[in-house]
Amino acid sequence: MTIEPLAIYIHWPYCKSKCPYCDFFKRVQKNVPQEEIIRFYLKELDFYHRLLPERRICSVFFGGGTPSLIAPENVNRLLEHAFKLWESAANAEISLEANPNSEYPNMFRQLRRAGINRLSLGVQALNDNDLRFLGRTHNLRQALHSIDEVLQNFENHSMDLIYARPTQTLDDWQKELEQAAAFGFKHLSLYQLSIEEGTLFYKKNVHPLDEDDAATMYNHTVDYLRLHNYPRYEISNFAPLEYESVHNKCYWEGGDYIGIGESAHGRLKINNKFYAVDNPPTTGAFPVQRHKEILTAEERAEELLIMGLRLQKGIDKSRFKNLCGLDFDGFINQTNAADLERLGLIINNKQCLAATDAGFLLLDNIIARLCP
Ligand SMILES: C[S@@+](CC[C@H](N)C(=O)[O-])C[C@H]1O[C@@H](n2cnc3c(N)ncnc32)[C@H](O)[C@@H]1O
Ligand code: SF4
Repeated sequence: MTIEPLAIYIHWPYCKSKCPYCDFFKRVQKNVPQEEIIRFYLKELDFYHRLLPERRICSVFFGGGTPSLIAPENVNRLLEHAFKLWESAANAEISLEANPNSEYPNMFRQLRRAGINRLSLGVQALNDNDLRFLGRTHNLRQALHSIDEVLQNFENHSMDLIYARPTQTLDDWQKELEQAAAFGFKHLSLYQLSIEEGTLFYKKNVHPLDEDDAATMYNHTVDYLRLHNYPRYEISNFAPLEYESVHNKCYWEGGDYIGIGESAHGRLKINNKFYAVDNPPTTGAFPVQRHKEILTAEERAEELLIMGLRLQKGIDKSRFKNLCGLDFDGFINQTNAADLERLGLIINNKQCLAATDAGFLLLDNIIARLCP
C-alpha cells in the first residue's frame, strides 16, 4: 500500500505592526497568549492525525503573519509532536518564514536546532528608502545581518523581495536583482507590488507602477535569473529543480495539506471526496472553529487549473484526472484554448497545458478563458 504524502501548514497570524501593502489576515496585539495557542495547535495536530492516521509528512510550513515571533522551543514542540504522530518522508522540507529583525537571541541558530531546515527571509527591499516606504520595521543593515545569519545556519533558504514599487526604475531593480542573485540563496520569491483594497496604500491612493513598466521588469527578471541559475518554476518563484519549494508545490500541484491556526485552510481528498477546510477569523478567542465543505469534482478541477497554470511546466493532464476524476480536455473551454494557442499564449499537447513566456503576463486572463 502506498502511503500518501501530507503537507502541514501552521499559521501564525500575529505581527508586530501592519505593513501598508499587506492584505494577509493578521493581528497586531500585545500579549499574544502563545502557550494557549501552542496547546491548541498540538490538539489540532491530534485531530488531523485521528482523521488521517496513515500519512507521511512531506513538508511543514510555518507561515504568517510573522511566525518568527513563535519562540523556537515552541516551534520544536510542534515539530516533535507532528513527527511523533506521523512518519516523515526522506528529506521532508520544514520551512519557516522569518522577518529580518529577530525577536530572540541567536534566533536563526535556535530555529535550525528546533528542526527548521529551510528558512524563508522576508527582506522585501535592498535599500533603506524603499524599506521605509514599505513600512518595514527593519532597515538594510538589519536585513544584511539576517541574510548572513540565514546563510550561515541553513543549507536551504529563500528570500522574498517586492518589486515594481511606484517610483522604482528598471535600473534600480536590476541593481537589487544582481545583489539578490549573488547572496547565494537557493530560492528566490519575487513579487510585484499589488495594491489591495483595504490596505493603507489603497486608502492613501498609492498607485502601482504602470502596467507596461511592470511587465518589462517581470520579463527582465525572468531572463536575468534564467541566466544566473534561478529558472522560473512558478510565476513568482525561481530556483533550480532540487530547491523548488516542496510545500508550495503541494498547493500548485493539488496535493493534500492541512491548515492549523486562525485563517489557515486545507485541502484533503479522503475516500474520493474533496474537502476544503477553512478556519475563519474569530473574535480572537481560542479554539478556532474549523469549517468543512465538500467540493464537487468541477470545483476541484477549477482550483487545479487556477493553481497548476502558475507553474512553468503547467498542468499534467493525467495527474489532473487522477486528482479530480475529470478529463482535462473535456473540462476546459476548447474553443478558447485553440485561440490562446494560436496567439502563442499557451502550449497545449497530449500530456500537458502550460503558459508560454508571453502567456505568463496574461495568466489571470488565460485562466478565465480556459474555465468552462
Ligand atoms: C505572508 S507574506 C509575509 C511574510 C512575512 N511576514 C514578511 O513580512 O516578510 C509573504 C510574502 O508575500 C509578499 N507580499 C505580501 N503582500 C504583498 C503585496 N501587496 N504585493 C506584493 N507582494 C506582497 C511579501 O514578499 C511577503 O514576504
Ligand atoms: S507583510 Fe508580513 S509583517 Fe507585514 S503585516 Fe503582512 S504578514 Fe505582517
